[in-house]
Amino acid sequence: MKVGIIGAGTMGSGIAQAFAQCADVDTVYLCDIKEEFAENGFNKIKKQLDKRVAKGKMEQSAADQLTGKIKTGLNTICTDADLIVEAALENMQIKKDLFKELQENIVKNPNCIFASNTSSLSITEIGAGLEKPVIGMHFFNPAPVMKLVEVIKGENTPDEVVDQVKAISEKLGKTPVQVNEAAGFVVNRILVPMINEAICVKAAGVSDIEGIDNAMKLGCNHPMGPLELGDYIGLDIILAIMDVIFAETHDNKYAASPLLRKMVRGKKLGVKTGIGFYNYADGKKVPTDKQ
Ligand code: CAA
Repeated sequence: MKVGIIGAGTMGSGIAQAFAQCADVDTVYLCDIKEEFAENGFNKIKKQLDKRVAKGKMEQSAADQLTGKIKTGLNTICTDADLIVEAALENMQIKKDLFKELQENIVKNPNCIFASNTSSLSITEIGAGLEKPVIGMHFFNPAPVMKLVEVIKGENTPDEVVDQVKAISEKLGKTPVQVNEAAGFVVNRILVPMINEAICVKAAGVSDIEGIDNAMKLGCNHPMGPLELGDYIGLDIILAIMDVIFAETHDNKYAASPLLRKMVRGKKLGVKTGIGFYNYADGKKVPTDKQ
């Protein structure tokens, strides 16, 4: 199977690695709007694999075989793809334009499946007006590790495409969960308001950053506290998902925290900008209320 990943950011490169790990996949096209962005995504994968080799968790030959499957470039290299997974910016128009271009001008394989890794946008709307159906194939960060794929059936996604994507997810060693069209799907509808609530708790001065994260780690056995997880996912993504769920439901329980909005405006987005609830300068992780 040949897979085209459109967008080589955190999610795109992680998804590319997840596919390259699969024996049924011989080629992964990792694409972005500039070749250098795609190269950066590839380097992230290489760095991650180098770490595993250094720890003795992977043979160098296995790492080489995996990276050897990945070809980087512009999306024009995806001509013979069997599956496209779009992981571009969370912007409806960008996604619609991308799928139109891929379907009309680039992908020549008539049986290609077109999937989006959107974290909350409507699959039905992404697919509206396109010649071929679109399906949601939502991975979780870090994509090579996390076991879930939400398979989102838009209003016009045929059942057979849903079944094909579930089978592909299983081949990746993941567990697919079928989800109907709904803002935030299952995980983000539950997880993101929880992170938003943790930010409200911080803004209300109920505890400090480490206190809130430790409470949820030790009290609920979560692997990461909600504020560090927000930093890890990206606070801009958290805000975008809250706004999508609110716009769809008009329910005030999904109103984004003003502190979250302020931090996003200030480009304090978490790990990716080096500062969010924690400061990541010099490879450290220091709560910003303890500096
Ligand atoms: N890419 C690839 N592999 C990675 C990785 C990455 N970015 N980060 C960690 N790993 C691997 C490590 O190599 C390691 O593998 P081995 O055991 O085989 O060596 C394994 O994951 C565990 O990593 P660590 O030992 O370094 O650290 P850890 O045990 O603390 O686990 C974690 C790290 C998996 C990220 C864990 O903290 C965790 O599960 N956190 C919660 C993550 C989560 O909730 N993700 C969902 C976010 S929501 C989302 O993504 C959807 C959305 O649309 C917003």
